[in-house]
Amino acid sequence: MDKQFKTLTEGIQDLPTLPSVVLKLNSMIRSPRTSAQQIGELISNDPALTAKALKLVNSAFYGFPRKITNITHAIVILGFQKVRDIVLAASMFDLFKGKRVVGFSQGEFWEHTLVAAIGAETLAKELGSPEAQDAFVTGLLHDIGKLVFAIHGFKEYEAVRKLAKDQDTQTFNVEMVLLGFNHGDIGSWLGEKWQFPDKIIQSIRLHHSPEAAREYRELNNIVHVADIMARAIDLLPNREKIPVISNDVWNEFRMSEQMLDTVYQRIGEGIDKAKDFFALIPKE
Ligand SMILES: [Fe+2]
Ligand SMILES: [Fe+2]
Repeated sequence: MDKQFKTLTEGIQDLPTLPSVVLKLNSMIRSPRTSAQQIGELISNDPALTAKALKLVNSAFYGFPRKITNITHAIVILGFQKVRDIVLAASMFDLFKGKRVVGFSQGEFWEHTLVAAIGAETLAKELGSPEAQDAFVTGLLHDIGKLVFAIHGFKEYEAVRKLAKDQDTQTFNVEMVLLGFNHGDIGSWLGEKWQFPDKIIQSIRLHHSPEAAREYRELNNIVHVADIMARAIDLLPNREKIPVISNDVWNEFRMSEQMLDTVYQRIGEGIDKAKDFFALIPKE
């Protein structure tokens, strides 16, 4: 894998950088000494981002009865992690704007990741998992490698897509066979550059093979399931073959069909309330 992976990643010249606010936020959240006020000030320095973020803060998704008018209040009420979710969502969808790839819809891509983010958070809450904190962001980022791959490794990406279609199999399997790495590897490479915490990076890398996770299994498993549920939900015409939920994960979560039904229903409710999030996805 090393050689091909290096060739692809080293060849990427104009990789988008996250707004410095998000990078700083990632490091500030890690420090226990960071105050709501400090983060509030950091975000407020960027008025465009602040306006977008406040719109999301006040959206039906969070359902607050009274309007929240500044970021510091939002942090006090929602917590650091939620505000990070919001700021990331408010800046993410524009990152690769204008980069067109034949046969690849960025709009559909971001819709899938947003549904996966909502799904991961919903599932984590349903399981009573502490990972509910990081689930949304990880869902939002889980397939980011696929986008980078489509844009920066188009020839290989096309070959993978064609073979997956011909053989009616999963793209990540074909990626492994043809290239020796998959879009999870590219995504985790980017996650490292963007300074996300290790457990998020690992869950991006192993979202298609959660049984390989030695640490952070719970978050990894949640994102694995949320991705599959999101694919079952988005009824897109050229969607890829839907994988099955790993047996290990099924057993570890003691999942039942009934539980899955409940989660599906809650995700549907979440999607309905997330219109302001979906509205941020650029139209092609
Ligand atoms: Fe994936
Ligand atoms: Fe996915």
